[in-house]
This record gives sequence, C-alpha cells and structure tokens, in this order.
Amino acid sequence: MNNKYEKICRNLKETKELAEKFAKLIKKNGCFVSLYGEIGAGKTAFVKHVAKALGVTEKVTSPSFVILNEYHSAELPLYHFDLYRLENEGVKTILDELREYSEGRQATFVEWAEFSQDEIPFDHIKINVTYDEDDSRKYSFEATGHDNITIIGELNK
Ligand SMILES: Nc1ncnc2c1ncn2[C@@H]1O[C@H](COP(=O)(O)OP(=O)(O)O)[C@@H](O)[C@H]1O
Ligand SMILES: [Mg+2]
Repeated sequence: MNNKYEKICRNLKETKELAEKFAKLIKKNGCFVSLYGEIGAGKTAFVKHVAKALGVTEKVTSPSFVILNEYHSAELPLYHFDLYRLENEGVKTILDELREYSEGRQATFVEWAEFSQDEIPFDHIKINVTYDEDDSRKYSFEATGHDNITIIGELNK
C-alpha cells in the first residue's frame, strides 16, 4: 500500500483546499502530524486551515514563543507545537511527552526545529513543505501505521 502523497499548492487558496480535505479525513479519529520545512514554507498556514475546518473558533496563532498552543472549541481537541525554540536535547526529551499526544482521539500538529530530524518512534503522518516558485508550495505526506496509511490512501483517490 502506498504511504505517500504529494501535492503542489500553487497559492494559499489551494493550500486551504488541501487542509480542508485533510481535516475531513482526521475529523473522526484524530491524527499526529509532524511538519518539516524552512521558516515561511507554510507549516503554520496549513495547521491554521486544518484547525478552522475542524471547527476551531479561536484564532490560531504561531506557537513559536510558547511551544504549545491548545484549542478546545472544536469537537476534537487540537494541539499545536512549535519546537523551533528547543535545542536538540530539548527535542529528545520532549519525544516521550509527544507520544502521549499521539494516543487517543485528538489532532496534534508539531512543527519541528530544522536540525532535529530524529525518527519519531510512534505512528504519525509527516508533512514536508518546500518552496516552489512564488506562492507555490509542495506538501509531501508520508504515513506510518495502518490508520495513517488509510488517510494517505484517501488523499490519493
Ligand atoms: N501556497 C501557499 N501555502 C502556504 N502558505 C503560503 C502559500 N503562498 C503564500 N504563502 C504565505 O507563506 C507564508 C507561510 O508562513 P507560515 O505558514 O507561518 O510558515 P512556517 O510555519 O512554515 O514557518 C504565509 O505568509 C503565507 O501567507
Ligand atoms: Mg510556523
């Protein structure tokens, strides 16, 4: 079974459409998502649109200064981490805590520090965001675990 999906979003509107499609697929059971890519690539933009589509009514902001923002206005709790400010050691110690956010019915999005590409030791969907030209961005998804691979299968339909 294919565990990968790739989408070029030529502008913010197409990123919003991709986020809405993804939100539909995780709405019932939640998901743990890790996001990689340079600053300004479009990680937070994607999370914002997923949150909105899940029914989060609070304003979703970048958690750069607090590491974690949580939102409880939607049916599914949404946790948004940004590990940009953590040093490498900090990222290692946070892995155990992150595991708890991957269990049960919740949506968790983690923006990773550039230097920490450690493998995540539990099921998740990884999204790598890269610049194309102008407002075009490439979102590359890769899943581990049965339920997450099913989600990728739906995106590929
Ligand atoms: N197709 C696109 N997808 C996502 N963001 C886009 C796109 N085109 C332009 N942008 C802009 O790029 C910026 C992405 O910033 P952000 O999501 O905060 O990046 P990151 O969280 O990866 O550092 C935003 O200002 C957004 O409006
Ligand atoms: Mg960000």
